[in-house]
Amino acid sequence: MKHLIAEFDAMKRRYPPGTESSLVTPCLHRIQDDRGFIADEDIAELTAYLGVQRVQVEEVIAHYSMFRRKPIGEKHVQVCRNVSCSMRGAEGVIDHLCKRLGVQPGQTTADGRITLGTVECLGSCGTAPVVMVNEAYHENMDAARLDALIEELRK
Ligand code: FES
Repeated sequence: MKHLIAEFDAMKRRYPPGTESSLVTPCLHRIQDDRGFIADEDIAELTAYLGVQRVQVEEVIAHYSMFRRKPIGEKHVQVCRNVSCSMRGAEGVIDHLCKRLGVQPGQTTADGRITLGTVECLGSCGTAPVVMVNEAYHENMDAARLDALIEELRK
């Protein structure tokens, strides 16, 4: 994390003194963009840098599903399983992906390339069921669209 301090200092200058805890989330985003996940040493260093309690960093990581504590594959497949997506077949989407990829939610394929996960609402309920791969949305998913997506993922 130390090589990010100059960026963090620039962010810090935009916040009034005494509001360092507001920097936890943007700093965690930057750390994860850099490393791919948030390591124990990142939490310790960020806590020391911002002068906040360790629990303030850990609770942000625990609350937001986008933060990861361990490495994942280069393709992160996340299936929404909230109400709208569930009503439009999210469980079938998850089952289909599990079978085709040979993993359960939270696991990474044997080649280390694809990680499957589930999330709560992705904010695209009108196009449920929704799957997000890295930052891209795949909407109105059905078996045919899933199979096409899996082929893309395997390239
Ligand atoms: S419930 Fe799936 S996007 Fe909202």
